[in-house]
Amino acid sequence: NSVFEYVDPDRKFASERFEFPRDALVFDAAAPPLGEGAFGQVFKAEALHIKGKEERTIVAVKTPKVDDPDSITNLLSEMEIMAKVTHENVIKLYGCCTQPGDEPLYVIMEYAEHGNLKDFLRASKPNDGYLQPRGVLPLTSRDLLRFSYQIASGVKYLTDKKVLHRDLAARNILVAENFVMKVADFGLSRYVQGHDYYKKQQIQGLLPVKWMAPETMSEEHEYRYSTESDVWSYGVVVWEIMTFGATPYPNMTRPDHITDFLNQGMRLERPQNCSEEVYRLMWDCWMIEPSRRPKFDVILQRLGDLLQLTA
Ligand code: ADE
Repeated sequence: NSVFEYVDPDRKFASERFEFPRDALVFDAAAPPLGEGAFGQVFKAEALHIKGKEERTIVAVKTPKVDDPDSITNLLSEMEIMAKVTHENVIKLYGCCTQPGDEPLYVIMEYAEHGNLKDFLRASKPNDGYLQPRGVLPLTSRDLLRFSYQIASGVKYLTDKKVLHRDLAARNILVAENFVMKVADFGLSRYVQGHDYYKKQQIQGLLPVKWMAPETMSEEHEYRYSTESDVWSYGVVVWEIMTFGATPYPNMTRPDHITDFLNQGMRLERPQNCSEEVYRLMWDCWMIEPSRRPKFDVILQRLGDLLQLTA
């Protein structure tokens, strides 16, 4: 029996609309994986005639860890979320290989040529202002604002679709052609139609504590995830952008130290060369009271105004 029959017995999900013949995927056996996460690996490949496109399309193929049922469930859930969304700033699902008996599971998606935003920012960090790493364009503060704006557009779209991302971080944003930002990694995402929030069923193993809103880590608040908790994480992403990929709270390793630090009213510092306006925006995303954080339409408005000013 295939694991897919257990996870998706009626096969009525994305698998139906997106099924793609495995033999029409061409992998470069010598190439290292594009990415490696807790739940699986991502490879670059070419797909023949996918989504009615031209002959060959470069794609990214995500596959679960071998023999880990959790990683399969996780990837299928990620795929279902991707199948529901279409936006310029959200990574697109192209296809999947989920036929029973046909393993491993493959999830085929849009390829982002500049990889994940965290590594991209680190590679683009100015050294002395003029000595740039080879092949990387110097980024202006306007570029950094534009990245922040595009990510907010993608997340606002998800919010409108009732999708909570729950793992927004620069490592989970991809940088595509023309440096267009694509929100990716929906492994922790949840569809919350009719609720607007999500309560974690159990404490999970590894949590992205440095990106998490305090209420999502608090028993008293029933570990409540909401659009407002995505806003908190978005603020940390903007901080990562403005620092060229620095690690937040570098000296804090214990989750309770971070919670104490935040509850005492302290926050990540203003990055060098970050304007007061942008720092105020991230700061507002880090209000303890979730309802006092700006909504994504307000965030877009404020960033839009700043982009006009720096035109
Ligand atoms: N790394 C993880 N996912 C990727 C994708 N879709 N494109 C390029 N690199 C990736």
